[in-house]
Amino acid sequence: MKTEILLFILGAHLPVLTALFVVTAPKSSYTASYGNNVMVECRFPVAPNFNANQLKVYWHHILDDGSSQEVYKLFNGKEVLQDQLPEYRERAFLLWDELHSGRAVLKISQVRVSDAGTYRCLIDLNGVDYKETALKVIASYEDIQTVTTTEKKETELICQSAGYPLATVTWLYRNGSELNKTANTTYFIGTNGLYNIRSVLRVQADINDTFVCRFWNKELNKNTSAALHIAATEKEREEADDFPSSMRSYIILVLIAPMMIFAALLLLLLRTIKSRQLSEKSTLQPLP
Ligand SMILES: *[C@@H]1O[C@H](CO)[C@@H](O)[C@H](O)[C@H]1NC(C)=O
Ligand SMILES: *[C@@H]1O[C@H](CO)[C@@H](O)[C@H](O)[C@H]1NC(C)=O
Ligand SMILES: *[C@@H]1O[C@H](CO)[C@@H](O)[C@H](O)[C@H]1NC(C)=O
Ligand SMILES: *[C@@H]1O[C@H](CO)[C@@H](O)[C@H](O)[C@H]1NC(C)=O
Ligand SMILES: *[C@@H]1O[C@H](CO)[C@@H](O)[C@H](O)[C@H]1NC(C)=O
Repeated sequence: MKTEILLFILGAHLPVLTALFVVTAPKSSYTASYGNNVMVECRFPVAPNFNANQLKVYWHHILDDGSSQEVYKLFNGKEVLQDQLPEYRERAFLLWDELHSGRAVLKISQVRVSDAGTYRCLIDLNGVDYKETALKVIASYEDIQTVTTTEKKETELICQSAGYPLATVTWLYRNGSELNKTANTTYFIGTNGLYNIRSVLRVQADINDTFVCRFWNKELNKNTSAALHIAATEKEREEADDFPSSMRSYIILVLIAPMMIFAALLLLLLRTIKSRQLSEKSTLQPLP
């Protein structure tokens, strides 16, 4: 009797169930590396008589204030991009080949920091439904630029790099233990949205050692580091302080060059005097 009731309920609901059009999101969140490509996906049921000309797919970027911006629109099987947000132009595409298998895949190329946020796919085929998924953008502090400048008593060690999100910079000794000294770490956000971090460590100049700066990107759980050497010998440093090499060449230019010009002028003067004496002689001597 129970199975009969169940069958009765199912039978009553079956037309409703088939009419239900449900969109699903296989992943609730995606992580993309800055500058790379990412594919965000929604799935929808396709009937055997699927006709792409009846399909509407809308991809929107939902901002924190709840407003939405159009990323991509497929309207009755045709791409309609006049309302597309300019920053997605030539960067956001729908993978058409996947549509017949019920996959609405949005591909965003050259991912920017501003692409991060919530994406909503709304699909209209045999019904309308939507799902939301999150996109996180990360950029590791890959390329660390280092500068070492030595003044009389202090050496300034600088490490600079850009990434996302904000990293923590620590300085270490060569043996890996953290320095008991605070560095001056500052940052600004570039037009590309990346954090440009600069960390300056000042140490005594008369040491012969290696220091390591480490950028810790918590979100990525990734550390990147660079080593800086202070290796100039004591003698070299004294020389460098009193007589920088650029100064040396400057002195050569200032002192030697005028001397050479003077010598050349002297030579020229001697020659003219000689030739004048000769011509005087020839005019004084009466022709025989
Ligand atoms: C690492 O080197 C620093 C400076 O040379 C020293 O003060 C520190 O004790 C060392 N740490 C370890 C664990 O050896
Ligand atoms: C670090 O420096 C502080 C004072 O500047 C000192 O009290 C502390 O013992 C130092 N720690 C280490 C591990 O050298
Ligand atoms: C840290 O560096 C910034 C810019 O380079 C500078 O304006 C600031 O005064 C420095 N702070 C300290 C404590 O040295
Ligand atoms: C990165 O460095 C931090 C400290 O600066 C440390 O706590 C963390 O475990 C390190 N992570 C990895 C993956 O090495
Ligand atoms: C500096 O240290 C390196 C390696 O520890 C060593 O080979 C070199 O001789 C040292 N230079 C001076 C001037 O102490």
